[in-house]
Amino acid sequence: MEKAQIGVVGGLGHIGLIQAACLAKLGYKTTGYDKDMQKVEEILKGNLPFYEPGLHEIVEKTLKNGLLKFTSNVEDLKSCDPIFICVGTPSLPDGEADVSQVFASVEEVARNRKSPCTVVIKSTVPLGTNRKIAKYLEEKSLDDKAVIVSNPEFLQEGSGVRDFLKPSRIIVGAQSEEIAEKIAGLYSPPEVPVIITTWENAELIKHAANAFLANKISFINEIAVLCEKVGGDIRVVSRGIGLDPRINPHFLEAGAGFSGPCLEKDLKSLIAQFQKKGKQAKLLESVLEVNEEKRKEVVHKLEEQLGTLAGKHIGVLGMAFKAETDDVRDSHSLPIVRYLLSLGAMLTVHDPWVKSFREAGFSEDDFPGVKWAQTPYEAADGKDALLILTAWPEYRALDMARIRDSLVHPLIVDGRNLFDPREMKAANIMYLGVGI
Ligand code: UGA
Repeated sequence: MEKAQIGVVGGLGHIGLIQAACLAKLGYKTTGYDKDMQKVEEILKGNLPFYEPGLHEIVEKTLKNGLLKFTSNVEDLKSCDPIFICVGTPSLPDGEADVSQVFASVEEVARNRKSPCTVVIKSTVPLGTNRKIAKYLEEKSLDDKAVIVSNPEFLQEGSGVRDFLKPSRIIVGAQSEEIAEKIAGLYSPPEVPVIITTWENAELIKHAANAFLANKISFINEIAVLCEKVGGDIRVVSRGIGLDPRINPHFLEAGAGFSGPCLEKDLKSLIAQFQKKGKQAKLLESVLEVNEEKRKEVVHKLEEQLGTLAGKHIGVLGMAFKAETDDVRDSHSLPIVRYLLSLGAMLTVHDPWVKSFREAGFSEDDFPGVKWAQTPYEAADGKDALLILTAWPEYRALDMARIRDSLVHPLIVDGRNLFDPREMKAANIMYLGVGI
């Protein structure tokens, strides 16, 4: 049987590119469609729009063997079926997700079809959206061109390729079981659990999963507060509770809170969806509140040691929202940097993969006076303190005696608990982690 030809809309975004490249790796002729012509031109030259471990190699190989194509012409999706929609759903000011790009993409695909196709919504959309899209197509008399299926994604940045090839589960929400099975069958290895369900259940599974992960992080971060008060060690407490298989050890690392383009956005969207239904998501609101507190806490620790931060020079290590990614979207480092600036601190920042605010999609003017260091040692040199915000492995490997000697005060506030406090004490470093 001939393999399906697959289309991916938003094919150069974080989810779309991983989806397109990995489908091509599985042997499907895949076309990634993205409106951004420049990005398409760049990838054809071998320049990926972001870094994701293992992705470059797959793109290179599948472009070469002809299984992967990129285009900025929607007509090139004509013979594709199914077509995945992987466009962004950014937060609106009230926390709700903006689904306008999803609707526009589905309509564009449907209008450019002669024959019907299955349109698979990968983008994270609020409850009821898939049903609304189907209704929208009906109103536009396009329902004979596209059958809507929900297939939320659970990839983590930094391990996206591995997560795609070895998913924990495949969730498909559809009105027809046959179509749902076809979509699940595209990329579910036999041992992977598949849940075929309704649109609404699929949408809720996606949001509830991210909200639950956020909940685990805020939970451990709350316990960390008490650890600090009683001289406990959150890492031991975390291990102790995580060994219970009902709890499990993942997402129990205390720190300066969760961030990035998904957890916070999806949590806010879920809270807004409760409000829309006249209900209050009390637990989820607290999860968000604890997270915001956690960001301020690292700054307050600096203040407690240095007195005022006005005029103080602080080196900040880590701008990406987590290690193994160059993604700065909604990174906790940005509000923390802004908060430090508002208190009058003078900052030098470093990140192994992010090299300027401009490169990360911001204006340098939004972060007045912030300097970029080429190395972590340069970021520490002559500063009153060092603040660690991202758990980059290279930070763990730093020569701490050199760091100590280059700081004016041997003070390190570590929002990622990268070091052992006893070793830091022995090295005469005033070291303040989170819950240790
Ligand atoms: C998250 C989910 O983990 C994925 O399953 C989901 O598919 C994705 O969102 C999405 O909706 O697209 P991701 O945004 O890549 O993935 O990031 P995570 O690995 O979940 O980390 C999020 C934040 O939590 C980071 O700031 C990280 O440092 C923080 N974190 C994570 C902790 O503070 N403690 C932990 O124990 C784990």
